Amino acid sequence: MSQNEALLAEKIGQKGAALKSSLASNQIFKYNLNIMSTNKSYRDLFPVTQNWTYVNHAAVGPLPKTSLEAVHQFMTDSSEHGYTAAPKWHALIARARVNVAKLIHASSSEEIAFTSSTSAGLAFVAQGVKWNKGDNLLIPDCEFPANVYPWLDLQKKGVEVRQIPTQNGKVLFEEIEKLADKKTRLISISSVQYGSGWIAPLKEIGEWCQANSVLFCVDGIQGCGAVPINVEECHIDFLAADAHKWLLGPEGTAFFYVSKRVWDQVTPSIIGWKSVQNPLDFDHIDFTLKEGAQKFEAGSDNVLGIHALNASLELLLEVGIETIHQKIVTLTQILTTLIEKEWPDTKLISPENPKERSGIVALKTTKDPNKLIEQFLNEKIYCATRRGFLRISPHFYNNDEEMELIVHKGKKFI
Ligand SMILES: Cc1ncc(COP(=O)(O)O)c(C=O)c1O
Repeated sequence: MSQNEALLAEKIGQKGAALKSSLASNQIFKYNLNIMSTNKSYRDLFPVTQNWTYVNHAAVGPLPKTSLEAVHQFMTDSSEHGYTAAPKWHALIARARVNVAKLIHASSSEEIAFTSSTSAGLAFVAQGVKWNKGDNLLIPDCEFPANVYPWLDLQKKGVEVRQIPTQNGKVLFEEIEKLADKKTRLISISSVQYGSGWIAPLKEIGEWCQANSVLFCVDGIQGCGAVPINVEECHIDFLAADAHKWLLGPEGTAFFYVSKRVWDQVTPSIIGWKSVQNPLDFDHIDFTLKEGAQKFEAGSDNVLGIHALNASLELLLEVGIETIHQKIVTLTQILTTLIEKEWPDTKLISPENPKERSGIVALKTTKDPNKLIEQFLNEKIYCATRRGFLRISPHFYNNDEEMELIVHKGKKFI
């Protein structure tokens, strides 16, 4: 066993590591009830497990206990010490910025801004790039609307939005090459598709963008926290993600990555007192914008939200995103293998290939998916429906018994 495998074994159990090796060597997955050990200590950090089989992280994830404690601590400090506690909070925000940089492998925390949503980050790109009439940009034809409307809004400036055709929520690389031309300025894509769960080949697309001087923007909300991402290696220029899904943070606390390479190619569409280089020099107006990503932070920080996000991030980084991804892929393999056996009229829409697989399992059923999710809710199983499919999205703290339970309970009405 290699050193990495040994570390993994320690975190998710010997059998999980063995499964990782078997997935890596493309051996056929065989379902075995004992294949995953349950990491009790991490699972215990999720009180939601006492109430629900919670498999809807692609919608909104629950807060771990550690985030709850961080928020509680902040509230207590604020209530007992007011703003005299601010140095502690500012230090925490700086630490959270470093943690986000670690999560996505950014070269510096100066490339990270905190924002209010994924949508805000994507809109900063759409509104901040200097477009010329006749420019075009590419987006897949099945993106979540957050990665559609900010671009459609550019049509009024004479920018053409070209939609890349997809198959089962998957972009074929040749389609990008077919659609692009000399006027293509940007590609924007989700790192993981919200409908199918397909993981985009970001490195391949990023290399193509770099070779063709095209800006590369990523909606990272369905990947960050569940799937490893390296913005440097993938030549990503912009990435936006909110905390409330796989990052297990609160809604409305998000980050926006702007690569150093493109700092001078994008201007903030919202300017405030904090956008400038000397924001605390209140009595002296000097309209010199900050150089890095923080020029996109116009006013006061979402201190409470960032406390929660930071605690969740620290938990995820402690477990390790590679480990989390392996655990999620293992759970979805268990789930889909059982479904194939027990739900004969159900078809898997998500990719079969473990390398393209995220935490999202999309299933086509013969039954009305809206009715199905109600029936699952009655069984205290929380999942969703998207694009007409049943969507089940487990995270690393779920366990194989829960996957079994979903299939067993669902068998009655699917
Ligand atoms: C791919 C994708 N992007 C963006 C969003 C919405 O993000 P926000 O509310 O942070 O703008 C969602 C939410 O479901 C999503 O699935």
